[in-house]
Amino acid sequence: MKRTRIADALKTPLSELGKTLLIQGWVRTFRNNQFISINDGSTLHNLQAVIDFNQFDDATLKRITTGACLSIRGKLVESPAKGQPVELKVEQLEILGDCDAEKYPLQPKKHSLEFLREIAHLRPRTNTISAVMRIRHAMAFAIHQFFNDKGFYYIHTPIITGSDAEGAGDMFRVTTLDLNNLPKDEQGNVNFKEDFFGRETNLTVSGQLEVEAYALALGNTYTFGPTFRAENSNTTRHLAEFWMIEPEMAFYSLEDNMDLAEEFIQYLCRYALEHCAEDLDFLNRRAQEEEQSKPKEQRSELGLIDRLQFVVNNKFERLTYTQAIEILRESAPNKKKKFQYPVDKWGTDLQSEHERYLVEKHFKKPVILYNYPADIKAFYMRQNDNDHAPGKTVAAMDVLFPGIGEIIGGSQREERYERLLKRVQELNLPEKDLWWYLELRKYGSAPHSGFGLGFERLIQFVTGMTNIRDVIPFPRYPGHAEF
Ligand code: 4AD
Ligand code: MG
Repeated sequence: MKRTRIADALKTPLSELGKTLLIQGWVRTFRNNQFISINDGSTLHNLQAVIDFNQFDDATLKRITTGACLSIRGKLVESPAKGQPVELKVEQLEILGDCDAEKYPLQPKKHSLEFLREIAHLRPRTNTISAVMRIRHAMAFAIHQFFNDKGFYYIHTPIITGSDAEGAGDMFRVTTLDLNNLPKDEQGNVNFKEDFFGRETNLTVSGQLEVEAYALALGNTYTFGPTFRAENSNTTRHLAEFWMIEPEMAFYSLEDNMDLAEEFIQYLCRYALEHCAEDLDFLNRRAQEEEQSKPKEQRSELGLIDRLQFVVNNKFERLTYTQAIEILRESAPNKKKKFQYPVDKWGTDLQSEHERYLVEKHFKKPVILYNYPADIKAFYMRQNDNDHAPGKTVAAMDVLFPGIGEIIGGSQREERYERLLKRVQELNLPEKDLWWYLELRKYGSAPHSGFGLGFERLIQFVTGMTNIRDVIPFPRYPGHAEF
């Protein structure tokens, strides 16, 4: 007999009741030696299995504990109890995996998210984490759907790279050298010629540079994979290992790029509302409870589902970095010295407090900032032609979201060989590693653009989870690589 998922069992039409099903899952609770609440992760809802305790010996009944894994064969019947349409009348019951109720860390009560992080191998058995992970799955699927429908090609860019895409230098080294006995060259430096690849390599910080090569051949492309950053950021929005979606399009201007970013996020929010209603409803209620525990002035005006609907139904505000600086400079918190980083002169990088002010207080909607100072952005961004100061700003854009801050970063790319080479040299970047990237500008260069959406930040927005460590199965952050 094949297993029926509880999600499917619960959808059984009344006319088909009375069938015998095989249900397998984990016990959430067992009451009165009679009612087993069982969950198999296919849905938020448990199935109630009703057992006639005269039919089973005491020893078996004792083994039905919270956390135990059961295989149950039984008849699906209409439930006389409130709160559930159907229940399972147990005919056969097998205990696949015992669970010592005394020691099992997941008691049937509310646990803090901090505690659950310490038992990340068991936390998918909670309502909150399982709901988040089902939504995470739905979003990954929707991302491929969106791009496939538009004729974009999914490119698998390498995880191990020899170039530093962001020029930031916060990378994890990949090596097979014996760290206790490093080979040295004549100058006494580590001899990477003896390393596995015959050179220095790292985990990628972004698939962008490589996917650009494919955009300049296949037109519309994207990459979606894990990326790694060794920055020591202990925040609720940073991970050392996170997933990123990076579309890259030939012949796209910065404006085309912004249009795509907006359409993309709206599509994903709409998809979640349409396909994840049950889990969203649960998380919405969860978030409401969390809000109640905050001081009034920190509570958000909209609930989770309202926020998603708001994104779907409203155009994002677009303004230049220069306009944003003007607004921030004149803002009440700046004048009252409430910002940790005061905004005074053009050219300073925006901190998350500034981004959140613009989104949450000033515009009260998602914002796209564009045309940033070249000095605070990556080398590959296209220099704007400005009569007074060419190259002073670049065709960059960041999409800023309530509660999250930066959710997308992107730009039009510098497609002019001479301009790009000059920038690489000014910034002292390793020309020898970037030769192939520069060559793309020599052989049939084309205007092109792209952006990166942080997958976990998207999931934070869609699920309302405040800490990024709770939206990825096994989070990696400074000091934490358990599991
Ligand atoms: O702004 P970033 O660094 O841009 C890039 O990597 C470009 N190569 C993207 C491109 O144009 N193809 O990162 C893009 C997004 C950010 O907006 C943020 O959402 C997310 O990636 N991100 C992180 N998410 C979690 N943890 C971190 N440490 C992150 N760093 C960036
Ligand atoms: Mg960025």
